[in-house]
Amino acid sequence: MRPSGRVGRVFGWLMARLNRDSYAWTVDQLRADNPRSFLEIGFGTGHLLKRAIKTFKLEHASGVDPSELMVETAAKRLRRYAKKTALDIHQGDDTHLPEGPFDAIAALHSFQFWSDPDAALARVRARLTPRGRLILVLRMHVSRRAAKWIPNPLSRSGNEIAEACAALERAGFSVVAMQGISKASQGIVAVPR
Ligand SMILES: C[S@@+](CC[C@H](N)C(=O)[O-])C[C@H]1O[C@@H](n2cnc3c(N)ncnc32)[C@H](O)[C@@H]1O
Repeated sequence: MRPSGRVGRVFGWLMARLNRDSYAWTVDQLRADNPRSFLEIGFGTGHLLKRAIKTFKLEHASGVDPSELMVETAAKRLRRYAKKTALDIHQGDDTHLPEGPFDAIAALHSFQFWSDPDAALARVRARLTPRGRLILVLRMHVSRRAAKWIPNPLSRSGNEIAEACAALERAGFSVVAMQGISKASQGIVAVPR
């Protein structure tokens, strides 16, 4: 949940390789909008932020992640872009998001760690521009063991995709696209209603 130490470094490396398709898919969902500002919730090693900065020449890239190791890793990866893009990445989580507003907000494989998803989605909704987009990539196949400790009750429910869509509706979003990205990842695109 919060990668740290040597194991965290290996996990981060592996995660970045395994999630490549999800990074590409996320950026593809935003191409038509060409966002100027972007927030990632749970940015890990910073690969998606890097891709978004390079693809969209972002004016403002922001992110929160509770892992000190991930903040350090992403900060190193992104520092070369700081001249042209205003970077605001710091230690934090879904409960305290930067103010925004943002043209795009993404959360890849971090939803299962949000202990109060309704409150978090309301926060996300309040930080999106009226024509903004939320990209949520869910981690599929939560194991029985993980189901005992992951904080998000919707992820533990056994029907995470449907529950996440219902929570998005409750928070004032319309789901406009859904796609299975890989065996491990389900993508959802939502816009403010
Ligand atoms: C499986 S990794 C995914 C990282 C990155 N999004 C990617 O796809 O490469 C999950 C990340 O979520 C972060 N995380 C854990 N709890 C979180 C929370 N409550 N809010 C935001 N991020 C969280 C972890 O520190 C970790 O970096």
